Amino acid sequence: MKQDSAKILSNQEVMPGVYLMWLRSPEIARQSLPGQFLMVGCGEETVLRRPISVHNVEGDKVALLFLVVGKGTEWLSHLKDGDALDIIGPLGNGFTTSGEDRNVLLVAGGIGIAPLRFLIDKIKDSCRQVTLLLGAATAVKLYPKELLPREVNLAVATEDGSAGYRGMVTALVPNSITAADRVFVCGPMPMLRYIAENQRQLMLMGKQVYLSLEMRMGCGLGVCYGCTIRTKNGLKQVCKDGPVFPLDEIVWDEMARL
Ligand SMILES: Cc1cc2nc3c(=O)[nH]c(=O)nc-3n(C[C@H](O)[C@H](O)[C@H](O)COP(=O)(O)OP(=O)(O)OC[C@H]3O[C@@H](n4cnc5c(N)ncnc54)[C@H](O)[C@@H]3O)c2cc1C
Ligand code: FES
Repeated sequence: MKQDSAKILSNQEVMPGVYLMWLRSPEIARQSLPGQFLMVGCGEETVLRRPISVHNVEGDKVALLFLVVGKGTEWLSHLKDGDALDIIGPLGNGFTTSGEDRNVLLVAGGIGIAPLRFLIDKIKDSCRQVTLLLGAATAVKLYPKELLPREVNLAVATEDGSAGYRGMVTALVPNSITAADRVFVCGPMPMLRYIAENQRQLMLMGKQVYLSLEMRMGCGLGVCYGCTIRTKNGLKQVCKDGPVFPLDEIVWDEMARL
């Protein structure tokens, strides 16, 4: 883990309200694993750093993909080439992969594509097939195809039917699940909860399914206990023990109360 004042190389709006930022940070680039995140300083008016996933790594450069939802991400969206960004990372456990996996299924809801893009690059050469199910409210909010490697087998869903399947991205899971050795999911909490509660219909029983949780975080460093959840293996901190957990480890009934 390292604290860095990283130089911004570019910061572009790639979908409405979603920015792709490239930074130069050799040490963090070298250490990062897919599924890990950075705590990002978001200006003097925002006291707490915000957790943002490592979206991709190329050489000594690190990419972040963020959706503007509030003060911190709004501040980030105004940064320009040459500005410096205060970051700490990489943090968290990242996705558990195996060199033995031949078919991997990724399910991304909205900005949930953020940590999965780096995973694609890490596994695409060792896997026979990487399938990405990408969902968004409407076509313009889908992660641009041009930013994905050609090798990915892509299926899309939009809630309004403006591209691909009309409906939730989770509806595409049963069609792609049979061959999958491992499944990685990232998306909004209601989507993750839906997956947990409908494992049988989605044909996920007996599969190795991992979820990346987006909890609100205070410190991101295991100090404040603000991100604690109950799991079948006791209380866990999402920032330190996660953000990636096996689907069947999470105690969903307890999630809202903690
Ligand atoms: C491990 C991890 C990785 C993440 N990676 C990314 C990423 O790569 N790209 C990205 O765009 N976002 C990511 N997030 C979510 C991101 O941290 C929040 O959107 C951000 O902190 C909001 O800050 P803000 O100051 O803009 O908004 P705030 O003013 O703090 O909040 C605005 C709204 O966003 C909601 N919100 C705040 N934090 C979260 C959160 N952690 N999860 C869900 N909703 C939240 C609030 O409830 C509120 O409604 C990640 C979160 C975690 C825990
Ligand atoms: S965010 Fe502080 S302990 Fe996890």
